[in-house]
Amino acid sequence: MKIGIIGTGAIGGTIAKKMSAAGHQVKVNNTGNIDKLNALAQELGATAAHQKEVVKDVDVIILAIPTIAIPTLPKDLFAEVPQNVIVVDTSNYYPFRDADMEEIKNGQVESVWVSEQLGRPVIKAFNNLLAETLASGGKKPGADDRIAMAIAGDDAEAKKVIAGLVDDAGYDTVDSGTLSESWRHQPGTPAYCTELNAAELRQALADGVKDDAPILRDKAIAELSAMSTYPAHPEVVKFNRALFA
Ligand SMILES: NC(=O)c1ccc[n+]([C@@H]2O[C@H](COP(=O)([O-])OP(=O)(O)OC[C@H]3O[C@@H](n4cnc5c(N)ncnc54)[C@H](OP(=O)(O)O)[C@@H]3O)[C@@H](O)[C@H]2O)c1
Repeated sequence: MKIGIIGTGAIGGTIAKKMSAAGHQVKVNNTGNIDKLNALAQELGATAAHQKEVVKDVDVIILAIPTIAIPTLPKDLFAEVPQNVIVVDTSNYYPFRDADMEEIKNGQVESVWVSEQLGRPVIKAFNNLLAETLASGGKKPGADDRIAMAIAGDDAEAKKVIAGLVDDAGYDTVDSGTLSESWRHQPGTPAYCTELNAAELRQALADGVKDDAPILRDKAIAELSAMSTYPAHPEVVKFNRALFA
């Protein structure tokens, strides 16, 4: 497939690498100049593209930028993008990083807000696995304890396409429902960055409590920030799981 990725940081860069390794044609864009982007794109197995080009002639557009950066995208970025092009939102809202965003703080589901900002439907995916998990936790289909990713959205066909890309990356998917249900894998829920297999993830998605999530999200960040050294990846996953023990 032809994939355009906006954002080449921890998650966007990892998705680009995984998708190009799986044989997809990947274009990337970030805020830097095109020479620097060219060098990075080469490392990722992708090609560098200006913002207007990254969304052109692709099957899937993946937004891998912080929530706060969504409104900085040009208002007409998607004007000529056909409706059958799938837009994926990977973002997670963190007040410490994204500042106060009233609608989300008042309970609006994060990707519903993103969809409204863009003026088009989105699929929420790639948000509930840490970049480190995505980089190195992949397994072949059918492998024991293959890690699963949650995927939400209102278009069943689009979700199938994205589930295929996730499978290419080495992960199962669990359909978490419509976009309005995607709070079930936002930060502060048991489905968020806890590296679960499909059966465990299904249960975690069912166990989430919407009003508790922002409280647990902020508690987790406060506790992780208070540690003298930031824990290694396996400890972070254990820490996330322990929030719900
Ligand atoms: N890190 C993870 O483990 C992880 C996992 C799942 C989901 N997420 C979510 O994914 C989002 C991105 O996280 P991240 O960790 O990848 O952040 P990051 O490492 O800080 O990377 C952010 C990327 O977004 C780019 N960017 C920002 N504004 C842009 C704009 N207007 N146009 C084009 N590119 C823009 C930045 O460009 P420059 O490179 O030019 O600065 C950078 O490449 C966040 O909402 C995060 O919560 C993260």
